[in-house]
Amino acid sequence: MILSHMLAVFIVINAIVLSDHRFGFVDGIQMGYYIMSCPFAETIVRNTVNRALQSDPTLAAGLLRMHFHDCWIEGCDGSILIDSTKDNKAEKDSPANLSLRGYEIIDDAKNQVENQCPGVVSCADILAMAARDAVFWAGGPFYDIPNGRKDGRRSKIEDTIRLPPPTLNSSELIRTFGQRGFTVQEMVSLSGGHTLGVARCSSFKNRLSNFDATHDVDPSLDSNVAKTLSKTCSAGDNAEAAFDSTRNIFDNAYFNALQMKAGVLTSDQTLFTSRNTRGIVNGYAMNQAMFFFNFQQAMVKMGLLDVKEGVAGEVRGDCHRIN
Ligand code: HEM
Ligand SMILES: *[C@@H]1O[C@H](CO)[C@@H](O)[C@H](O)[C@H]1NC(C)=O
Ligand SMILES: *[C@@H]1O[C@H](CO)[C@@H](O)[C@H](O)[C@H]1NC(C)=O
Repeated sequence: MILSHMLAVFIVINAIVLSDHRFGFVDGIQMGYYIMSCPFAETIVRNTVNRALQSDPTLAAGLLRMHFHDCWIEGCDGSILIDSTKDNKAEKDSPANLSLRGYEIIDDAKNQVENQCPGVVSCADILAMAARDAVFWAGGPFYDIPNGRKDGRRSKIEDTIRLPPPTLNSSELIRTFGQRGFTVQEMVSLSGGHTLGVARCSSFKNRLSNFDATHDVDPSLDSNVAKTLSKTCSAGDNAEAAFDSTRNIFDNAYFNALQMKAGVLTSDQTLFTSRNTRGIVNGYAMNQAMFFFNFQQAMVKMGLLDVKEGVAGEVRGDCHRIN
């Protein structure tokens, strides 16, 4: 009784905040942002993601990575979704876009949402919701995210230089993530996103031969794993290696792999090699619930990175193009 009463009050307050700009309420990021303006937005996105992942489970990784790339460059503003034009080379066309996949899921969800509530739900929010739903679909934690991100009007290939390269060591990762406001623990838990998906040889072949002056193979890599990866790479730069033994399942197997010296990227294995982060890796390897809890908190935070609110952005009609 009390609960339903509180819910009613909550809905009314939200209705006022969302519908009446005369009072000068800020059109800002909040929980339940679409509760009045597009009540089925979250359901539509979830159903679309579930349907797509049912036919191709590997796309869960694509959606999660796409959200990360979106947020890291220009904030979570859908800039990763924009196509290049004759006057502008977009983020999408950077070599760092390698293996970004799942654009058609965002398009599908956007079309359905536009049919119900035209011009209301931003592409940035759809991507954030889709990444969240992909994590849950793959067996990871479910978490609420605030919405209200506006879509950005800038997407430039040269901005992708900010993405962290796979060759970073743990101190460089700590510094890079620290510059964006993330703690060491948040950096390690976010790296756990690599529990989903694959990397291509071009991203790790530097570890397999001519590694440095004294080693042919990266000494932090298990020698049998190195052999397997080398075999994979004999098929070329685009050959794929899974980050862990369960590439479509969101679990803590990634951290177990790091303990076995089986991390695929330099930036993965360094988290175990370095004493600055090893304790956190061991903790997550032992306690999946703790990883899930820290991951979901870090994802909510990442989803708020440099977001554009109100008139700082727009709600794109087509996620591929600035209005
Ligand atoms: C810590 C710094 C990070 C580095 C250096 C990094 C680098 C990479 C690289 C090089 C790949 C493989 C690309 C390819 O070879 O095609 C990759 C894949 C991936 N990354 Fe990251 N990443 C980082 C953080 C993150 C974060 C924070 C997330 C999300 C929370 C994430 C999610 C993913 C996913 C899911 C894939 C697999 C994509 C697929 O299978 O389609 N990464 N990452
Ligand atoms: C990624 O970038 C390359 C150019 O570096 C481009 O040919 C390719 O279409 C891009 N992939 C996606 C999915 O946009
Ligand atoms: C990480 O790399 C930097 C140079 O890029 C180096 O100065 C530093 O010592 C390295 N840190 C570790 C822990 O290896």
